[in-house]
Amino acid sequence: MSQQQTDNAGVEISVGYFFATPVAAVMLPNAEAINADLRARVLAQRKREPGKNASNRGGWHSAEPTENWAAESAQAIVSAGEEVANQMTMDRQGTYFRPRWESRAWANINGPGDANDFHYHPGSFWSGTYYVDDGGCAADASLGGEFEIMDPRGTGVAMHDPSLVMADGAQNSGGTTMTFTPRSGLLLLFPAWLQHQVRPYYGDRERISFAFNLSRAV
Ligand SMILES: [Fe+2]
Repeated sequence: MSQQQTDNAGVEISVGYFFATPVAAVMLPNAEAINADLRARVLAQRKREPGKNASNRGGWHSAEPTENWAAESAQAIVSAGEEVANQMTMDRQGTYFRPRWESRAWANINGPGDANDFHYHPGSFWSGTYYVDDGGCAADASLGGEFEIMDPRGTGVAMHDPSLVMADGAQNSGGTTMTFTPRSGLLLLFPAWLQHQVRPYYGDRERISFAFNLSRAV
C-alpha cells in the first residue's frame, strides 16, 4: 500500500507501507450462549485438574485437551477462528487459500494480580484468544488485563530517539506495543509469531479466556 504526499516545494512523494502485521478482532454473534456453557465447563474443569504453567504468572491454564471437556462450545470458537483465518490466509500467488487446519486449544482463568508474560506460539501459523468473561475489564479500564502485542521490529525503531516515530498509516510505527481491551465475546486472531502478553488483571471477578493455535495439517 502506498500513499501520495506532496512536500513543501510541491514535489510528489510516494510513500510505501510494507510488512504489515494482520490482527483481526471479531465479536462472535452467538457469544452469550457459548460463554454461559463454556464458563461452566471451564470452572468445572479447574476442579478436576491442577492445570499447568505456561506463560501465566498466576492464574490457571488448562492442560487436558479441550475436546475432552469443552465440547461444542470450544469447537464453535475454534471453528470461528478458522473461518477468520481463512479470510487472512493466501498462497504465495496471492490467492485466498483454505488450508485444513489443525487446532489445539486451552482455557485460562486469571484472578486478581494474575498476568501472562510476553511470549509467542512456536509451531503454529495463527493464534487466537477469545474472552468468555472479561472480568469487568471492558467497563472499567482501571482493572487492566489488556491483551498487548509487541511491534515485531522490537525496540529497534526507538533506539535512536524514543520521542521520534516514523509516520505511517496506522500511527503505530514506534518499536512499541498496542493494547486491546478484553470484552466478553471478542475473538482476536494474530500471527503465532507475534509476541503478546496479558497485563495484570486487578478485578475481583475471575477473568476467563480461551486460546487456540492453528497450524496447517500435514
Ligand atoms: Fe499466548
